[in-house]
Amino acid sequence: MEKLKVAVISCGMIANTAHIPAYQYYRDRCELTAVCDLNARTAQQTAERFGIPKWYTNTQQMLEAEKPDLVSVCVPNAFHKETAMLALSHGAHVICEKPVAMNHQDAKELYEEADRRGLMLVACQVIRYYPEYLFAKEMYDQGELGEIYYSEFSLIRRRGVPKWGAFHKKSASGGGVLCDLGVHMIDAALWIMGTKVKSVCGMTSSWLARNEKDVVMSLKESGAPAGVFTRQQYRAEEFEVEEFASGTLRLENGGTMNFKTSWAVNLPPEYSMRLAGTRAGILLPEMKLLGTMGRYQADIEPRVFAEEAPFAQEVFPGHFLLIEGVLDHLQKGTELMITPEQTRHVTAVIEAFYRSAAEQREVLISEIE
Ligand SMILES: NC(=O)c1ccc[n+]([C@@H]2O[C@H](COP(=O)([O-])OP(=O)(O)OC[C@H]3O[C@@H](n4cnc5c(N)ncnc54)[C@H](O)[C@@H]3O)[C@@H](O)[C@H]2O)c1
Repeated sequence: MEKLKVAVISCGMIANTAHIPAYQYYRDRCELTAVCDLNARTAQQTAERFGIPKWYTNTQQMLEAEKPDLVSVCVPNAFHKETAMLALSHGAHVICEKPVAMNHQDAKELYEEADRRGLMLVACQVIRYYPEYLFAKEMYDQGELGEIYYSEFSLIRRRGVPKWGAFHKKSASGGGVLCDLGVHMIDAALWIMGTKVKSVCGMTSSWLARNEKDVVMSLKESGAPAGVFTRQQYRAEEFEVEEFASGTLRLENGGTMNFKTSWAVNLPPEYSMRLAGTRAGILLPEMKLLGTMGRYQADIEPRVFAEEAPFAQEVFPGHFLLIEGVLDHLQKGTELMITPEQTRHVTAVIEAFYRSAAEQREVLISEIE
């Protein structure tokens, strides 16, 4: 098996904590030859930290000089499309951080370009690889849940606005907590149920981040337990995106999904997904099934063994498994778990969500796709 030549575009938190360590873990299957960041110091320090031979500040120059087979695009959301497009146009397969694009048209153009060139483009919807979501998918596919007619998720940080990067700026991040956290949960829930969204009713708010001063927040709680080398507090007057997002999705399978997600809200921190099916319900992350046994209502908790959770010691275990899946796909021809059609659809849901919030009405996906 020939080793793939790999490059990583941008050297921020997720590149340092997830992509680069994962490529180095699979060093017998790929060779990470270069990294790039607009910020020279960041690029140089990252290259030195991991012993990567070359670093660049210009993506095009890196692509021309290194000719990588595969790149990770880890720039802020608003630059995903142009950066992924540039990498594809230089003949590289692309692993792109989520969301791949901020609207459906951009995602469509990206996948058309990948198709035209016979290249892979995959979105980092990494929570699908977490044991609880794999378990839920397995239960659903085996028919243990029956038809799911109701689902909900809450991913709530009480005060957890990212304290690094430019997550609070629309020009860099495109959107706020929906793009940061909500997109993972929407993607995973649709994947488990094998369904799509018919319409979106969404609302956003951003009062706390704009108005509160000096509230203490945890870097770890805001999603970065490691890998932040340029910590910075956002300035309240610069905060341009939503800190809270909630909504209802009408699904093609006849069901609904209610959700709330926040970087800042006066509610307790919460991380849960619940799916209610005709045979059983499932609670995540507990992996608890709620059903009946004989005449009785019964709760089933599977025995789960630690050795079955690979990379559990890593901060972002899903990236290791995603990259393993990508290497398997490129080197052994196996199927990818995350398909272009699913990712394009998620970008349509994001677009419909923001349109719904702005226009204060239910938006049909058929208006967008
Ligand atoms: N999949 C996940 O679980 C997960 C988790 C965290 C972040 N992310 C995603 O990863 C991306 C980056 O997040 P982060 O936390 O690493 O942010 P970050 O702010 O730590 O890093 C971004 C880096 O990009 C550099 N940069 C900006 N524009 C660039 C350009 N055009 N070319 C090259 N470099 C450029 C910046 O200098 C910075 O070093 C975002 O899209 C975010 O949504 C995904």
